[in-house]
Amino acid sequence: MLMESGDEEEKEHAILCIQKLAYNDHISTVLKEKTRVEEVLNALGDDRKVSTAVRTALEILQHGPPEKATDMISRKSVQPGSISTIKLSDLSVGRMVAGGGFGRVYKGYHKRWMMQVAVKQLRPLSKEQSLRLSKALIEEAKFMHQARNAYRFIVPLYGVCVEEKFTALVMDFMENGSVGDLMLCVKPVPWALRWRILHETILGMNFLHSLDPKIIHHDLKIQNVLLDEDFHAKITDFGLSEYKYMASGGKDEKGGIFGTMTHIPPEHFAQPHLKAGEEFDVYSFGILIWEILTGRQPFEGINNSALIRLGVMKGQRPTTKLIPKEGPNELPFFLSLMEECWHPNAAKRPTFRSLGKRIGTVIQRTNLMVAEAILAVRSALAKEEESASQDPERREVPAVAGALAAD
Ligand SMILES: Nc1ncnc2c1ncn2[C@@H]1O[C@H](COP(=O)(O)OP(=O)(O)OP(=O)(O)O)[C@@H](O)[C@H]1O
Ligand SMILES: [Mg+2]
Repeated sequence: MLMESGDEEEKEHAILCIQKLAYNDHISTVLKEKTRVEEVLNALGDDRKVSTAVRTALEILQHGPPEKATDMISRKSVQPGSISTIKLSDLSVGRMVAGGGFGRVYKGYHKRWMMQVAVKQLRPLSKEQSLRLSKALIEEAKFMHQARNAYRFIVPLYGVCVEEKFTALVMDFMENGSVGDLMLCVKPVPWALRWRILHETILGMNFLHSLDPKIIHHDLKIQNVLLDEDFHAKITDFGLSEYKYMASGGKDEKGGIFGTMTHIPPEHFAQPHLKAGEEFDVYSFGILIWEILTGRQPFEGINNSALIRLGVMKGQRPTTKLIPKEGPNELPFFLSLMEECWHPNAAKRPTFRSLGKRIGTVIQRTNLMVAEAILAVRSALAKEEESASQDPERREVPAVAGALAAD
């Protein structure tokens, strides 16, 4: 990827990397100390050195400055502060629920607490990498801990398990998976339930944005909105996108911007150093509304992420042709919310607080239909489960003893 030639494209990339370094909170302290970053910044003045600058910048982005990395390992960085640590020996791990960007999610059981939990195992890495990532994870998990009182809207995090060869988040098990799972399994999901999911997501996001300091989710999408046993929506994975980026070795196609490609607002493609604010999440919520209205993946079939990035910067959004023309009375209201949320001008996007005020009255009527909607969903899911149990390829994978630690 990096060439010695120092051509224009490479220079641009170098500048983006340096900007990213300079504006990233996570490593901003680095800039305050006399580290190699200074050399990198100085090197930018000289074209011939750009290539080296890029390499150094990337190295620091990926591994941190050398002295920092050593510090982290030596000073018992895996102290989670107020977040509980959970012993692997206290967990019994059941079936794998899914594999996502972080690793795998298992249904588990906490033997001493005698309760079901979700065990989100993070990708196994080398010892040094995992110590560094564990530190990042704990930092990020503090966000989830900070929001623990909002268990109505937020998936509760019970603790982190950081042991040799095994790093996991232990959280409440959400019986009905993610909204993404629901949209895949039940077609169509009754409108009244879709509206309630949107309402509860707005309340959860408003809560995160109301905290002091506010929490920016950074990766809002239907896979990160989970459903409890009564199909109430709860938000998960907030603040974890930076961990995910580090876990991928800092190598992704988004030029160092955290989040999911299809849900990143255009201004962050244009200025990757931009610090994400509420508007980032509001834009992602606009895409999430589209996902809920269509049950499809945004920009489906476009595998080239550069095309998505360019398109979004030029004002393209997921196609509205996939949104049903006919629908309930509330449909035009949600269509206009969607368009307001993904407005190209970040300053014109609404806040979750204003969305919460507006949606409340709209769904008062439809909330009366939610009980019936849930009955229909339960019966569709039961049918789906029955047909899955008859299909040997779709049967649940049983837990394999020691599968986690052995990974
Ligand atoms: N607490 C939980 N309870 C029950 N199921 C969960 C829980 N957390 C995650 N899952 C399931 O695991 C799936 C994968 O989650 P994961 O966060 O690993 O990946 P993702 O959300 O699809 O992508 P990303 O890694 O970008 O967040 C979810 O879609 C959901 O089905
Ligand atoms: Mg997730």
